[in-house]
Amino acid sequence: MGLYSAVIRPILFQIDPERAHDMAIRAAELAGGSSSLCSAVAAAAGATSPRLAIEVAGMALRTPLGLAAGFDKSARAVRLLAALGFGHIEVGSISAEPSAGNPGPRLFRIPQDRGIVVHYGLPNDGAERVAARLDGSRLPVPLGINVVSTNRGPEAASDADDTVIAEYVSAVRRLHGCADYLCLNLSCPNTRDGRDFFSERQRLTSLLDAIDALRIAKPLFLKVAPFATTSDIESFLAAVEPARCVSGFSVNLPAGKPQGLATPASQLARMPGAVSGRPAAGAADRTIADLFGRVDVKRYRIIGSGGVFSAADAYRKIRLGASMVQLMTALIYEGPAVVGTINRELARLLEADGFAHVDEAVGIDARTGSSQ
Ligand SMILES: Cc1cc2nc3c(=O)[nH]c(=O)nc-3n(C[C@H](O)[C@H](O)[C@H](O)COP(=O)(O)O)c2cc1C
Repeated sequence: MGLYSAVIRPILFQIDPERAHDMAIRAAELAGGSSSLCSAVAAAAGATSPRLAIEVAGMALRTPLGLAAGFDKSARAVRLLAALGFGHIEVGSISAEPSAGNPGPRLFRIPQDRGIVVHYGLPNDGAERVAARLDGSRLPVPLGINVVSTNRGPEAASDADDTVIAEYVSAVRRLHGCADYLCLNLSCPNTRDGRDFFSERQRLTSLLDAIDALRIAKPLFLKVAPFATTSDIESFLAAVEPARCVSGFSVNLPAGKPQGLATPASQLARMPGAVSGRPAAGAADRTIADLFGRVDVKRYRIIGSGGVFSAADAYRKIRLGASMVQLMTALIYEGPAVVGTINRELARLLEADGFAHVDEAVGIDARTGSSQ
C-alpha cells in the first residue's frame, strides 16, 4: 500500500469532501509556484513510453490519459497538475460570469462504490478572471478549457435561449486564446438548464452556428451525457453534422443515481447529484461505443471518462473508441501516483497485444464487434 492510501487518504477522508478538495487545489496551487518542485514531481511521474504518444485533432499528446474537468474548476493549479504525468489537462467548467454554484452540501464520497456524488452546479471564477490567471502561462502538456453557461442558482429564472447561447460564445471568445482545445459542456447533470437545454436540437444548431462564426482555430469537443435512446443520439449527430467547428465528443456523467449501488439507499437519499467513479463506467463505455460506431472516425475523436482507475479501464475505453481518456475520481481514491502507474501499465497492455502505437487500438473492439 502506498503513502497516499496508507496515510494521506485516511486523513483527507476525515475532512468534509468539498473542504478537502479546496485544500488539495490550494496545496497544488502553492506547489505549482515552484518550478523545481514541478520538475521533481514530473521526474517522479516518469517518462512515458513512445507507444502511448498519439495525435488528436492536431494536438500531440504524449499519452492519451488526461485530467477530466471539474477537479481544477478555475485553473488555479494547472502547473502542478501538468507535472503529474497526464498527457493533457482539462480545466473548468468555466462560465462567462462567475458562479457560486449550487447550495451545499454538494459533494459526497461513496467509498463502497468507489465513487463521488457531485452536486456542485458549476461554481467557478468566471471567464475573465480565469483568462487573466492563464494569460501567458506555458504548460508542458496541452490545456483543455471546458466552457458552460452561467449557473445563477436554483432560485433564478431560466435564461432565454439567446442568453444561454450568448454566454457560451462570450466565454469561448474570452478563453480560446489560453486553450489548446475547448470543450463545450452541453450536459451538466446538476443544473436545471444545463441538463436538458440542448435536447431541443434547434438550440444546439444555433449554438454551433454561433461558434462556427467565431472561426476559432482550436479543436472543439462537445461534452454530452449518455444518450437515452437511439433517436436521441441520431438527432444529436444530425444537428452536429453541418458544424465545421466540432472535432469530437466527450462523455459526461448521467444525471441521477445508477441502479445497483452498494451504498445504502438511506444514505444516497441525503446526497443530491450525479455519481462519478466506478458506477459511471458502464454508461460511459456504452456511449463511447455508440458514438464510435456512428460517426466518421476520421473527422471526430472521442474523449472517454467515467470510472478510469487502472490501465485496464483506460484500455477498455480506447478499444471501444476513445482516442483520449480522462480520470478524476481515481485521483481522489488512489492519489497522484495513479497517473504514472496507468501510463506504465497501459504501455505494457498495448505491447502484449502487439500494438506499436496506441492509435492502432482505438476502436478495435467496435470494429471487430468483439469486446475484451
Ligand atoms: C467533483 C466533480 C466535479 C465535476 N465537475 C465537472 C465540471 O465542472 N464540468 C464537466 O464537464 N465535468 C465535470 N465533472 C465530470 C468529470 O469531468 C468526469 O467526466 C466524470 O467525473 C467521470 O470521470 P471519473 O469517473 O474519473 O471521475 C465533475 C466530476 C466530479 C466528480
